[in-house]
Amino acid sequence: MSDVSPETQQFEAPTLEEALDRLAMPMVEAMRTQRAVRRLRTDPVDLELIYELLELSLKAPTSSNTQDWVYMVVTGREQKERLARLYRPLFRSFEPIVRRTAKTEQERRTLGPAKWQMENFADIPVFVIPCYRKGLKHRSVGWPQLSVSSFYGSVYPAVQNLLLACRAVGLGASLQTLPIWITPIASRILGLPRNLEPVCIIPIGWAKGRYGPTTRRPIEEIVHIDRYGNQPPRRPRA
Ligand SMILES: Cc1cc2nc3c(=O)[nH]c(=O)nc-3n(C[C@H](O)[C@H](O)[C@H](O)COP(=O)(O)O)c2cc1C
Repeated sequence: MSDVSPETQQFEAPTLEEALDRLAMPMVEAMRTQRAVRRLRTDPVDLELIYELLELSLKAPTSSNTQDWVYMVVTGREQKERLARLYRPLFRSFEPIVRRTAKTEQERRTLGPAKWQMENFADIPVFVIPCYRKGLKHRSVGWPQLSVSSFYGSVYPAVQNLLLACRAVGLGASLQTLPIWITPIASRILGLPRNLEPVCIIPIGWAKGRYGPTTRRPIEEIVHIDRYGNQPPRRPRA
């Protein structure tokens, strides 16, 4: 299913109360249908709602329970313009590479919504930029690998919680790394202290289109039992 829908469709954002009620969506439905929604409405999103979702997202685990998170929430026009200026040349450099190296037609198709988002970046209502504090145990690059995996592993579970919560309330969102790929510039824009590293950026707005179901490889291709190579038989599909 595509994340494209007619621009002209009438839209009325739910109230805060209505949006919070939607969090009662069955977990399995949210998990099955959460996907990268890049075409977003430019209507404002109540920050109270964002804070509620961020609070839920932070129920996630962190390495040694350090909770050394900082969430930058960007809504100001000037800051969004600065992020857009950082992103545009990165997207333009990467687009032809992605187009050339895409393995599937589906991969190539995501370029349309991605391009739309790049062109409308400064109009997206909210960006959440999860950052994590660097230290001896948590490194964004380098050795030992355990410290690197603990660094990113302390951020992405919370990000997935946020994506699921957005999906439940009807907000479109996606996990992205390219827009802030040049992290020193992103850090400067955000005024981050040196020991904080921005990990990814989640553009958020009311979803224009519908969510999933998502297409993923079947578990028989992914699972190996006891030793690599010992894969389970195919299961009948519903
Ligand atoms: C680590 C990571 C980085 C990603 N970076 C980007 C990005 O820079 N730009 C983008 O449009 N999508 C990005 N994505 C989103 C993926 O492209 C998307 O989740 C994937 O294509 C599956 O899409 P679906 O959930 O809609 O099926 C990223 C996802 C992950 C997990």
